[in-house]
Amino acid sequence: MLPEDVESDLSRVLYSEAEIKDKLRELARQIEADYEGRDLLLIAVLKGAVMVMADLARELHRDVEIDFMAVSSYGASTHSSGVVRIVKDLDIDLAGRNVLIVEDIIDSGLTLDWLRHNLQSRNPASLEICALLRKPTAAKVDIDAKYLGFDIPNEFVVGYGLDYAERYRNLRSIGILAPHVYS
Ligand code: XMP
Ligand code: MG
Repeated sequence: MLPEDVESDLSRVLYSEAEIKDKLRELARQIEADYEGRDLLLIAVLKGAVMVMADLARELHRDVEIDFMAVSSYGASTHSSGVVRIVKDLDIDLAGRNVLIVEDIIDSGLTLDWLRHNLQSRNPASLEICALLRKPTAAKVDIDAKYLGFDIPNEFVVGYGLDYAERYRNLRSIGILAPHVYS
C-alpha cells in the first residue's frame, strides 16, 4: 500500500510491486538464456533506471558487471530533445564486452537513440536494450528493445525510479500522476 498522501497524487496504479517483480524475473530468465557462456555488462542511465537496475541485476543468477552514466538533456524538462550531454561517463571500457542497456522507460525514444549510437561507437561485442516500460504511441524514433516489460498508455507515470520534479522515485509501484499535481 502507498502512504495516503502519495496515493492521492496518482490517478491510478498501473503496476504493483509484485507485478514489477514478476516481470523482471521473466526478463531475467530470457537474459540468462541468451547470454549463457558470455560476459554481460549492464549499463543504466541515472537516475530513473536505478530501481530497475538494482532489481534486475539481483534477479540474474549469474555474474554481471554494472556501470552507470549520468546525462543531462538540453531543452524543455518535460519533453526530451534527444540532445544529450554526458555529466558522468562510464568507468568501464566497452570494447569487446556484451552490453545491455537497462532503462526505465522508452517515451519518445530520443534519449535511447542517442545512447545507443554513443555506446555503439565504443565497439562493444554486442549491444541490446532492456526497458521496463514503453509508451508506444509517443515514439519519435523506433527503438528495438530486445527485452521489454510493459507497454503503457501515453500518460506521465511516476514511481519505481521515475520522478516528477524529483519526487515519487521511491514508490514501490508505478502509477499515473494525477493532473492536479502538475496543473
Ligand atoms: P525519451 O524516450 O522521451 O525519454 O527520450 C527520456 C527520459 O525521460 C523520462 N521520462 C519520464 N519520466 N515519467 C517519468 O517520470 C514519464 O512518463 C516519463 N517519460 C519519459 C525518463 O527518464 C526517460 O529515460
Ligand atoms: Mg531515464
